[in-house]
Amino acid sequence: MPKGQIVAGFLAPHPPHLVYGENPPQNEPRSEGGWEQLRWAYERARKSLDELKPDVLLVHSPHWMTQLGHHFLGVKKLSGKSVDPIFPNLFRYTFALDVDVELAEACCEEARKEGLVSKMMRNPNFRVDYGTITTLHMIRPQWDIPVVGISANNSPYYLNTEEGLGEMDKLGKATRRAIERTGRRAVLLASNTLCHYHFHEEPKVPEDMSREHPENYAGYKWDMRMIDLMRRGKTKEMFAILPQFIAEAFAEVKSGAFTWMFAAMGYPELPGELHGYGTVIGTGNAVVEWNLVKAKLAKAA
Ligand SMILES: [Fe+2]
Repeated sequence: MPKGQIVAGFLAPHPPHLVYGENPPQNEPRSEGGWEQLRWAYERARKSLDELKPDVLLVHSPHWMTQLGHHFLGVKKLSGKSVDPIFPNLFRYTFALDVDVELAEACCEEARKEGLVSKMMRNPNFRVDYGTITTLHMIRPQWDIPVVGISANNSPYYLNTEEGLGEMDKLGKATRRAIERTGRRAVLLASNTLCHYHFHEEPKVPEDMSREHPENYAGYKWDMRMIDLMRRGKTKEMFAILPQFIAEAFAEVKSGAFTWMFAAMGYPELPGELHGYGTVIGTGNAVVEWNLVKAKLAKAA
């Protein structure tokens, strides 16, 4: 079996509003559109993903919270209805997905070797969280590529940011080894919003874009500073200021997906391709791609 490889990583945020704006048949509520800048950013990302021809999509979601350890979806087929507890008016999504259990088990085993508490999720009736579903729907609405779902242990919240992100670094390295030894062609999805200051009231028509803008100017400036570093491939600099960004912009990258993804890719000093930026209830969201094939760090399909 040839050695597996990571072919790309995407910053792929999960506001359920994006699914709501698209009106796919799986989602019950209907909209008049909205959040087009971000939805069209995902359209561009979909084209890249298609060309990459991955065997598997791995997604780390802050909304599958596990207080004890890092968990991995471990049931071959999962289906049901996923509802956003904050926005049940926007997201009631009937999902059906295939899990790459063999790779998930390898990730779990490698994470243990790193000294992390880790566990396979074997409940056949498990309701997959809206973060995982939204990211996967937006990047690949066909649902024809198996997935590995990884929980957010949330250690950065009950330890401190640096210690918690230290765990995510280990989880990323473990994930890379698991991909290599199972021979997979893998794409990583960091399901994270940037600045997370948000409005506390929803407009009468949620998709009324005349009401959508950054909630917080300082947070917006932070987002632009971070995106500028991403676009210039200044990875070391970006991670040096990540804790300050998290503290000052209340950034959701605190939950670890972004660090997990970069650790797995080996923190390449590689310019990311910004597919688009937009706000959702005032929070900052960017769809960014790090294509390791184009950078000749991975082989073409
Ligand atoms: Fe979130």
